[in-house]
Amino acid sequence: MFKPEKFIPNAIKQVKDEIGDEKAIIALSGGVDSSVCSVLVKEAIGDNLTAVFVDHGLLREGEAEQVCNIFEDRLNFKYVDASEEYLKELEGVDDPEEKRKIIGRVFIEVFEREAKKIDAKFLVQGTIAPDWIESEGKIKSHHNLALPSGMVLNVVEPIRELYKDEVRLIGDELGLPEELVQRQPFPGPGLAVRVIGPLTEENLRICRKADAIVREEIKASGVDKDLWQYFAVLTDTKVTGVKGDQRDFGYLVVLRLISSIDAMTAYVPELPWSVIRKISQRITSEVPEVTHVALSISDKPPSTIEFE
Ligand code: XMP
Repeated sequence: MFKPEKFIPNAIKQVKDEIGDEKAIIALSGGVDSSVCSVLVKEAIGDNLTAVFVDHGLLREGEAEQVCNIFEDRLNFKYVDASEEYLKELEGVDDPEEKRKIIGRVFIEVFEREAKKIDAKFLVQGTIAPDWIESEGKIKSHHNLALPSGMVLNVVEPIRELYKDEVRLIGDELGLPEELVQRQPFPGPGLAVRVIGPLTEENLRICRKADAIVREEIKASGVDKDLWQYFAVLTDTKVTGVKGDQRDFGYLVVLRLISSIDAMTAYVPELPWSVIRKISQRITSEVPEVTHVALSISDKPPSTIEFE
């Protein structure tokens, strides 16, 4: 069985040996993997690690504040609000791969600026086993990243052999707050891949509001313990509804409430109908642009967890 109390001192020693007295940087998203990794590496090299939290404007309600509150005093932490930069490039883009490409490019630009400021020699990444097993099969555990400016960072991945449940055990052992350790995975491109069709500030706002309701109700009902991810997707389908005694024509929102062990496969569990109905009623009454809520019942495979 995996023993975090054994893993942690070994990992700290390895990171110390590897990075020595050089400066390192990590992109801290506030997800479990990068958070645990940041705290682990901080134990090894102290403030020589700078944790950069880039706000791309595609985060969920209250997320930026939550991440800042948890880490501001705990790490050599830097909050970068790049939301305008991202949204300017993403406005109106509707192709999922195009969205990901733009988000990846802007991220490199923002991150490179920060890495240069501190003269970082190492890049710490919270890669875990499913990340590389699913995508590439075998990649070397130690490799370099050449940034567009020519700057080369040595990549350090202290938790790359672990699975999510093991990372969570380490988070507990390191004293990270439960809301963070148990946080559901959230994709790097954020709400951009949960708004189907053209990305606009308005669509992001609608998706964010619906998502906040899903999270609130799922947590309040206690079924969050049985779910891997639970969120709302704003589709570009418009459907007729009736509000008061007026015809309305608004958006279709889809609820994605799924169970999984490691995101490679997933299934839609049976959940209390009262919870689903309440979410639907709240979204259609509190988000005026939405007239219809549907429940996704497709497993992975053949569907993927995210809609884009
Ligand atoms: P899919 O949709 O492929 O998702 O079944 C599997 C897991 O990966 C997350 N996901 C992403 N994470 N960048 C990320 O960092 C992405 O572009 C991305 N797409 C999907 C998804 O939330 C799920 O946990």
